[in-house]
Amino acid sequence: SAPLRLGIAGLGTVGIGVVDLIRTEGALIAARAGRPVKIVAVSARDRARDRGADLSAFAWEDDPVALARRGDIDVFVELMGGENGPARAATEAAIAAGKDVVTANKALLAHHGQALAEAAEAAGRVIRFEAAVAGGIPVIKALTEGLAANRIRRVMGVMNGTCNYILTRMESAGLPYEAVFEEARQLGYLEADPRLDVDGIDAGHKLSILAALAFGTRVAFGAVELEGIGRIAIEDIRHAAELGFRIKLLGVAQMTGRGLEQRMSPCLVPADSPLGQLQGGTNMVVLEGSAAGQIVLRGAGAGAGPTASAVMADVIDLARGTRYPTFGVPAATLAESVGASVAAP
Ligand code: NAP
Ligand code: HSE
Repeated sequence: SAPLRLGIAGLGTVGIGVVDLIRTEGALIAARAGRPVKIVAVSARDRARDRGADLSAFAWEDDPVALARRGDIDVFVELMGGENGPARAATEAAIAAGKDVVTANKALLAHHGQALAEAAEAAGRVIRFEAAVAGGIPVIKALTEGLAANRIRRVMGVMNGTCNYILTRMESAGLPYEAVFEEARQLGYLEADPRLDVDGIDAGHKLSILAALAFGTRVAFGAVELEGIGRIAIEDIRHAAELGFRIKLLGVAQMTGRGLEQRMSPCLVPADSPLGQLQGGTNMVVLEGSAAGQIVLRGAGAGAGPTASAVMADVIDLARGTRYPTFGVPAATLAESVGASVAAP
């Protein structure tokens, strides 16, 4: 059958991870997708850069918007990042040009996901974003497919690996925040703007996406109560340990009598609990379903392989023709049907 043709914008960690995964697992992906999946064209800022991958078979576009509009692609894969700029412009252009979209961009979704999903819905297209939350952990699919027959009671978890690395390293090495922050910078763990990590913004983006899916509400990042890890002292970590607790940057979303509550803040968790045991850059998401009970998902929240795995899971779903709802009209209908308050957009 006809191949599914991809245009990939962004050839950094994740983009090259996707190129590599299609190169190494193309036959398996085609078998699972029911048709070949083929990269047709790519875009990044610097065409001359050696990216350690052979890109010679793909057309090159300097402008991601032009890539998004190409007549020879079916799916626009947005892997550039950023809440506005080319990521937003190209995603909007792709939807307007009748393409489905796959993105790993949680900042874009937290700020504009609602409008993008509604535009896609109106155009009869879909926008998919498994990679945007918790990297390689298939948490979006767990929520929207695996737990489709459940009312979700609560979503919580550790969704920023860098903060978890900093907090666990402070405890294990007995080092102050500033020293471990510097270590994380040298290891390349921090986002270009580290405030996204340590102020809880990146994790808050992810929580707002999960909350909207879990509770059928509009994406409401502005309503997330945010507190980062920058004020945690080594003494706080020591005192917590003496009492049998660890400090984690924990996200919690739940429906209360006052509506949807979304909080991302440092919390004490029992040291011997699954969340307390979570070490280094790993993520953990806990989902509480009315019928299924508690589900705990743990895995790599970042990195080329895990994130490309999630991107390609979405691509394979599109190749198969799977069309389950994300946010937007179907989500609003769900909110009405479960009697939930709809948070302000
Ligand atoms: P990255 O390594 O910084 O790569 C970004 C890519 O986008 C680069 O290839 C860059 O081009 C390209 N780009 C940026 N601006 C562009 C423009 N104006 N026109 C064309 N290309 C442009 O980023 P990444 O780590 O792969 O992350 C990509 C996305 O995945 C982000 O939304 C991120 O939040 C998300 N994500 C990342 C991870 C992870 O582990 N890294 C995990 C989950 C989600 P040049 O290479 O030429 O500069
Ligand atoms: N900065 C993010 C983290 C990258 O540390 O989890 C993956 O989204």
